[in-house]
Amino acid sequence: MRILVVNGPNLDRLGVREPDIYGTQTLGDIERQVRERAAARGVEVDFFQSPAESRIIEYLHREGPEASGVIINPAALTHYSIALYDCLKTLAAPVVEVHLSNLHARTDGSFRTRSVTAPAAVGVITGLGAAGYLLAMEYLIDRNE
Ligand code: DQA
Repeated sequence: MRILVVNGPNLDRLGVREPDIYGTQTLGDIERQVRERAAARGVEVDFFQSPAESRIIEYLHREGPEASGVIINPAALTHYSIALYDCLKTLAAPVVEVHLSNLHARTDGSFRTRSVTAPAAVGVITGLGAAGYLLAMEYLIDRNE
């Protein structure tokens, strides 16, 4: 079983980026936790991060067909990328959308409460920080067993 973990623009800046909102863990810290849990459950994970919509879409076209599940934090692409939504819809594997912050509790713009990509996901976890990635992975593994 192979799960893809995809992160969008600016998530490589976690740790220094608005820590009051996104916490102090880096993306590397999150990756380590996910890899540890994946190893414990005997599952392979592949991480990909890019600021570029096109690179994320190319990655999903390439790797998606062989994946058992996809965990994606599309970051700002969440709020406007119909291209990413269309791409996620092409995948047979279940997609879980994850956000570190609670989009519904953000006060810096009403655009944040709207996800154009979420309808392509089986579910969305928002506001649980790094735990969201781990819970998404547990869900995808249990669903596949
Ligand atoms: C985010 C929320 C988005 O609104 C924002 O653009 C991000 C991170 C989150 O994980 O909380 O980059 O996806």
